[in-house]
Amino acid sequence: METLLSLSNISKWYPVGRDLLGRPSGMLRAVNDISLEVKRGETLALVGESGCGKSTLARLMLRLLEPSGGRVIFDGEDISHWSARRMRPLRARMQLIFQDPFSSLNPRMTVGDVLEEPLRINGWTRSRRRARVAELLATVGLHAAHAERYPHEFSGGQRQRVGIARALACGPEFIVGDEPVSALDVLVQAQIINLLGDLKAQLGLTLVMIAHDLSVVRHMADRVGVMYLGEIVELTDTRTLFERPRHPYTRALIEAVPQPNPHIRPSRDLLEGESPSPLVAAQGCRFAERCPLVRDRCHSDPPVLRETLEGGGSHQVACHFWREADRGTPIATAHGQGSARYRQRLALFQEQLARQQRVAQQSTTDCPTIARCSTPNH
Ligand SMILES: Nc1ncnc2c1ncn2[C@@H]1O[C@H](COP(=O)(O)OP(=O)(O)OP(=O)(O)O)[C@@H](O)[C@H]1O
Ligand code: SF4
Ligand SMILES: [Mg+2]
Repeated sequence: METLLSLSNISKWYPVGRDLLGRPSGMLRAVNDISLEVKRGETLALVGESGCGKSTLARLMLRLLEPSGGRVIFDGEDISHWSARRMRPLRARMQLIFQDPFSSLNPRMTVGDVLEEPLRINGWTRSRRRARVAELLATVGLHAAHAERYPHEFSGGQRQRVGIARALACGPEFIVGDEPVSALDVLVQAQIINLLGDLKAQLGLTLVMIAHDLSVVRHMADRVGVMYLGEIVELTDTRTLFERPRHPYTRALIEAVPQPNPHIRPSRDLLEGESPSPLVAAQGCRFAERCPLVRDRCHSDPPVLRETLEGGGSHQVACHFWREADRGTPIATAHGQGSARYRQRLALFQEQLARQQRVAQQSTTDCPTIARCSTPNH
């Protein structure tokens, strides 16, 4: 498959703190030296815990952020340092779908105006804009009459459909969804995932889907990249990732979420050690403090993402001891003494999960049976 987007050693560092002379006292490595290719027509998922740099990477891909280092190549052009003006014609070809459809829509604009805005910027005439808005609403499963309504008059799922329609307005070929379904109810989440899958097939889109929950991307992604503290630690096709994860962190993520729920982020409590900080200097492996397979070497020798398959296929892993993670023993029981504590944590986590599920169900704004209802009243 042809490469549409290529990231080469891309980094985004932010200065943090100030010393007495007003100079930054440290650097926060939100994204650290990532190289990645997105193939034309594929769906690539990026998953990881909160704060691991998913949104920063998404914005670097779309050149909504300027990289601190490395290169962004889109369709053969090095756009790493293009000005906003130079980027303008490219904007129609690459779009972002936001996590929170409500905050990304102007409450004072009707949906028709929201959808017309990018078309107006791109010089479409009024009559063409009107026709395109009706077409876009139909494409995402809404009615032409919805153009007259304001965002607060829609359900969460409908608002995300509007967000998708807006992203599609100028006919993009590359779309990045930054957790586009994580604020939605489970049923609505499934509808939106199906819609994105259909649109991808119909329109020949290339998708990058960002999620904190592996189960969300399992049925829609061709490949999955797992991120940890600003780096990709495992990258392979979706089936292989779920069947034979080779990084201890991926294994912990897969084993840690018994019942995936979009309202709940993967619990850090399941992994040993302190919560990670992107401020920590990279002496060795960034996962070392929490890794059940950690050895002395891990504290001094940072592992790089490298190919672990020979003779076809690709399964890249950043771990010195990936063969051990790949043995097939559940990571929770791989270490005799640690397993009792791990099981205790798992029981605690499951309790938390059940409690959060009850709260989430009570606070859900969309009716959970809306998809099956014959007389929905929006
Ligand atoms: N403008 C900024 N200035 C300083 N630090 C930032 C800035 N933007 C992001 N960060 C930091 O970079 C890190 C990665 O942030 P990012 O938003 O990319 O994470 P994320 O994986 O998308 O998290 P979430 O799942 O919560 O959305 C975080 O530690 C965040 O605090
Ligand atoms: S390199 Fe070491 S600390 Fe890092 S993931 Fe592998 S075993 Fe764990
Ligand atoms: Mg984010």
